[in-house]
Amino acid sequence: MEVLGIDIGGSGIKGAIINLEDGSFVSERHRIPTPKPATPLVVAEIVKQLVAFFNWKGAVGCGFPTIISNGTCMAHGNLHKDWLGVNAAALFKKTTGLDFTVINDADAAGLAEMNFGAGKDKKGLVLTITVGTGIGSGAFFNGVLLPNFELGQLLYKDGNIIELYASDAAKKREDLSYKRWGKRFSFFLNYVHTIVAPSLIILGGGISNKFHKYEAYLDSKTPLVLAKAQNNAGIVGAALSVTTK
Ligand code: BGC
Repeated sequence: MEVLGIDIGGSGIKGAIINLEDGSFVSERHRIPTPKPATPLVVAEIVKQLVAFFNWKGAVGCGFPTIISNGTCMAHGNLHKDWLGVNAAALFKKTTGLDFTVINDADAAGLAEMNFGAGKDKKGLVLTITVGTGIGSGAFFNGVLLPNFELGQLLYKDGNIIELYASDAAKKREDLSYKRWGKRFSFFLNYVHTIVAPSLIILGGGISNKFHKYEAYLDSKTPLVLAKAQNNAGIVGAALSVTTK
């Protein structure tokens, strides 16, 4: 079965047609920058453009960068505040006429890795941590998804969440070297270790494409591996989410 996977992120909205048997790309990957402000109507319009780009008429799975419960945004994350309470699945269906499954983007990346990547057959608590505009976490226990495990919301300094200091966006905003960013991210990884002692952490998101640049600066008590699909895990997992309905 082939499904259009769409990964909505804080800086880019990416899509590709995915073969669900093995998670491979059937089409090229197409990316459109996330508009600012990323209001529901403007994002829905981009989703419509992606569907038209692929001339897609079938099911669509979508990863979304906030807490999602039954297709509805329970937070707005790094998108416009108007997303709070919006049923994204219903909105995209209305805009495109197609059936949409919407789940949290890091849960989607985790789904891809657990099925086809670094998490395959791994037991215990396996976390896929995505680092991009935000910090996302897809948690699986013995292969079963624990949705919306929002570890990027942990408090760090001055009442602010860790995502504000250790995301790729923070690295860019503060012009941090990989060494300084690596120190902050290591703090986050070990904080997570103290709380939930995962058996494995899989690193995904935009920053995973440059792993070699900071691998040496990471110090993690939990075994850490790179997502096999790197930043594409979000698209593959988005497509896979239609099977979780
Ligand atoms: C959101 C998460 C999301 C992550 C990555 C965070 O700001 O709270 O839900 O998974 O960004 O996009």
